Amino acid sequence: MVIRGGGPADLASIASHYAHQDTPWDPFGSVERLGRIPLDGLLVAEVDGVYAGFLYWYEGTRPYYRPAIERFGRLYELHVKEEFRGRGLARRLIAQFFEDARKRGLHHFFVDTDDDNLVAQRLYESVGYRRYRDDYHYELADPR
Ligand SMILES: CC(C)(COP(=O)(O)OP(=O)(O)OC[C@H]1O[C@@H](n2cnc3c(N)ncnc32)[C@H](O)[C@@H]1OP(=O)(O)O)[C@@H](O)C(=O)NCCC(=O)NCCS
Repeated sequence: MVIRGGGPADLASIASHYAHQDTPWDPFGSVERLGRIPLDGLLVAEVDGVYAGFLYWYEGTRPYYRPAIERFGRLYELHVKEEFRGRGLARRLIAQFFEDARKRGLHHFFVDTDDDNLVAQRLYESVGYRRYRDDYHYELADPR
């Protein structure tokens, strides 16, 4: 199992693995769009030389929900292919993210996930994140 920085050669694997495509500008489902975002926060997990998953993070400043924080690292996407789950890959990807971010002087980390994603919640809490805020989602469906 190897965790390494990702680059242009990984984009096709990531785009074909990433299934969510509800946002037209979401970069992760398209090699072309992925090629237009900074790749310095891209980490890739490999098992026996085979692509197994990725983590994407970025450095942000003064989040609107905590404006006193100057700089932070936000884990933006984390996906491990189904056949490679349960082997500690996500945990290793997150550990590498923390290490890289701390080297850049970051000591504040954010991540969010869905209220029904119990696997992700357990994972994030097991690496030290603490829940601090709930979001509300609204829907309006016109009667037909
Ligand atoms: C969430 C995800 C990244 C976990 O990847 P993974 O490589 O299987 O996770 P790991 O093997 O590193 O497991 C780490 C911890 O996650 C939790 N976890 C993992 N799989 C779990 C499961 N099936 N049920 C409950 N907890 C689970 C556990 O706390 C586990 O630690 P433990 O093995 O010591 O109990 C993976 O399931 C995935 O890609 N899911 C779809 C995308 C997604 O939900 N991404 C995150 C939200 S944005």
